[in-house]
Amino acid sequence: MSYTAHITIHASQFPENVRRDLLESLRQRRVNHKFHYDSVKQTQKWLALHQAYSPARNDADCRAIYEKSFMAAAAQIKSRRVHVIGLGCGGGQKDTRLLKLLRNHGKEVFYTPCDVSTAMVLTARQTALAVVPEKNCFPFVCDLATTDDFQKILVTPHPPARTKPLRRGEGPSLVTFFGMIPNFEPEQILPRLASLVRPKDFLLFSANLAAGKNYAAGMKKILPQYDNPLTRDWLRSFLDDLGVKRRDGDLRFAIENGRFGLKRVVANFHFRRSRRIEIGSETFNFKGGDAIRLFFSYRYTPERVEKILAKYGLEVGSQWIAKSGEEGVFLCSGASEEGR
Ligand SMILES: C[S@@+](CC[C@H](N)C(=O)[O-])C[C@H]1O[C@@H](n2cnc3c(N)ncnc32)[C@H](O)[C@@H]1O
Repeated sequence: MSYTAHITIHASQFPENVRRDLLESLRQRRVNHKFHYDSVKQTQKWLALHQAYSPARNDADCRAIYEKSFMAAAAQIKSRRVHVIGLGCGGGQKDTRLLKLLRNHGKEVFYTPCDVSTAMVLTARQTALAVVPEKNCFPFVCDLATTDDFQKILVTPHPPARTKPLRRGEGPSLVTFFGMIPNFEPEQILPRLASLVRPKDFLLFSANLAAGKNYAAGMKKILPQYDNPLTRDWLRSFLDDLGVKRRDGDLRFAIENGRFGLKRVVANFHFRRSRRIEIGSETFNFKGGDAIRLFFSYRYTPERVEKILAKYGLEVGSQWIAKSGEEGVFLCSGASEEGR
């Protein structure tokens, strides 16, 4: 393996745009989730808490639903070459298991690990190189919430001339969107996702769910998956880096009603004393009693996933729900033209 990596970085993650988004987060007092994955330190903290709490890492049955969905996707893809586009790839563990299975089915695999965090993209690339030849791996850093020209970038082979390019349209792409939907407002991300999945493509989509018939009770049950020391420490890193002291306030978790009849877990930091944050020439003053929202996580139910995807033209063909009822994987076909 070489000692360098070629990464394509989209303008949405150029410093001036990241700064604009950070100022906006502080102005609105609602932190864009991407700022929790910014630094190597945050990435390490998130990977550690994912290892500790993610059912996909710790629950054999949950792992099994992913394997079943990967087998179903592999069975449906008839072409010999497959391009897996991992949107919000994180450490790339799930995508790599999928790539391995596709390779074992005799496919030539290509991989675009895509994430807002360069550290995550590099981690995913490293994980995937056990299965994908380096020349077939195209790491891509972008902010999915603001990247409008994704389609155009994907048809351009990058890095140029290092491999026979797999042009989109040559075979189906398999887009993965694992564990991403909870941290976005659905109306912000789903039209973008739908426009990326072309009619002959496949989408593997997973979400953490609220289990059981009683939605409110299901939400209460999963609260400890968020309100725990590792998650608190990870979320507090954002404020630490801005000079907010731990004694300046408290991090409180709650359940609230979001849009489309959905419920979500939110984490707000409540200041108990004044704190000034300076970013270049911009100053943000918080006083005791003020709050800033650090995080939210929507929890869906299988019916709610199906309904909301259909609203954007993405049809769920098959689904696998963990016995715990707390995680589900959905295999969808590409968005019809009307859904876009
Ligand atoms: C909950 S993790 C899911 C990781 C992985 N898909 C998995 O299931 O293990 C969310 C991932 O989304 C990335 N992310 C957050 N906001 C993003 C954005 N606006 N654009 C692209 N990636 C984003 C984070 O860096 C992180 O890797």
